[in-house]
Amino acid sequence: MQSVFVPGLFENKTAIVTGGGSGIGAGIAKRLAKQGASVALVGRTLEKLENVAKEIEADGGKALAASADVRQYDALANAVKMAVDRFGGIDFAVASAAGNFLAPAATLSANGFRAVIDIDLCGTFNLARACFEYLSKTKGAIVSITATQAKIATPLQCHAGAAKAGIEKLTRDLALEWGRFGIRVNAVAPGPIEGTEGMSRLAPGGAEDMLKKRVPMRRYGNIHEICEAVTYLLSPAASFITGASLLVDGGTSLLGPGPFLDLLEQGG
Ligand code: HXC
Ligand code: NAP
Repeated sequence: MQSVFVPGLFENKTAIVTGGGSGIGAGIAKRLAKQGASVALVGRTLEKLENVAKEIEADGGKALAASADVRQYDALANAVKMAVDRFGGIDFAVASAAGNFLAPAATLSANGFRAVIDIDLCGTFNLARACFEYLSKTKGAIVSITATQAKIATPLQCHAGAAKAGIEKLTRDLALEWGRFGIRVNAVAPGPIEGTEGMSRLAPGGAEDMLKKRVPMRRYGNIHEICEAVTYLLSPAASFITGASLLVDGGTSLLGPGPFLDLLEQGG
């Protein structure tokens, strides 16, 4: 597979990755470690984090598993502190933790809406805020993982869409405020990514061929392709890029809400 992979690119750098125990977050953590970064993995389930940390270490990298709920600021700040104590600072913060499910707005409970906003949007602010002191010392960078739902009105996704749109706005506001500290703040908005928890929750079983026809590139993306975008945005190649949200969606968003509209018609 083609890659912008540069060995040693992130040597002597430390990254903290929320949602690093699975899926896209785990892929990003492994990719950053493979390129030399020490990586702190954050999520609620310690076992998942430890498994990814073991994989990274078996591959010659450095990793730390720190269990925290991104909704709990003090717990998250403690995980950040653990990373700083172990690795000496923070250069990169990647916010990949999220929660999502399909739900019609008419029946979604207030608590269901709040849970997703709290994990995705507040969790992203909490990570950025907890890392600010350290990122300002290293002139570091933040990348948050959003989704096409941030831009495209999408049925059954009002909670996730509002949260991801909020993260993209937060990205621009933090970029504006923190540019003077040398901190760059960007987002990556994936389309459907194969083999992930997100797709298993949002895509009805057996509908893969139909769904892929709704992607201009006629296929799902893969975790590697998201890692490429994150690597680029964290690297010196993106040294003048801040406040950006990079769509990595095979053109999915060009077609509007696509398959979600079909789901709504089917009574979702
Ligand atoms: C309607 C639901 C629901 C569902 C939960 N809720 N699941 N409502 N439909 N399927 C409601 C509950 O009833 C409850 O409201 C409220 O949400 C909180 O539920 P809890 O289970 O108490 O919350 P919590 O334990 O905090 O779990 C958060 C969660 C959960 C989001 C609900 O699913 C989770 O932890 N997910 C993490 C993993 C995940 O979702 N990964 C996918 C990310 S992918 P009430 O009113 O009953 O109290 C992604 C894809 C992006 O984001 C786009 C792809 C194209
Ligand atoms: P995933 O494997 O479920 O990743 C989400 C991670 O977040 C999990 O490891 C989960 O671990 C962690 N998490 C959830 N709630 C948390 C909380 N309160 N505190 C700390 N950690 C929490 O799903 P994924 O599909 O790879 O998604 C990763 C990111 O990509 C998400 O931001 C998602 O919105 C985005 N995205 C995915 C797709 C896709 O096609 N999959 C498309 C667009 C955007 P614990 O449950 O152990 O905490």
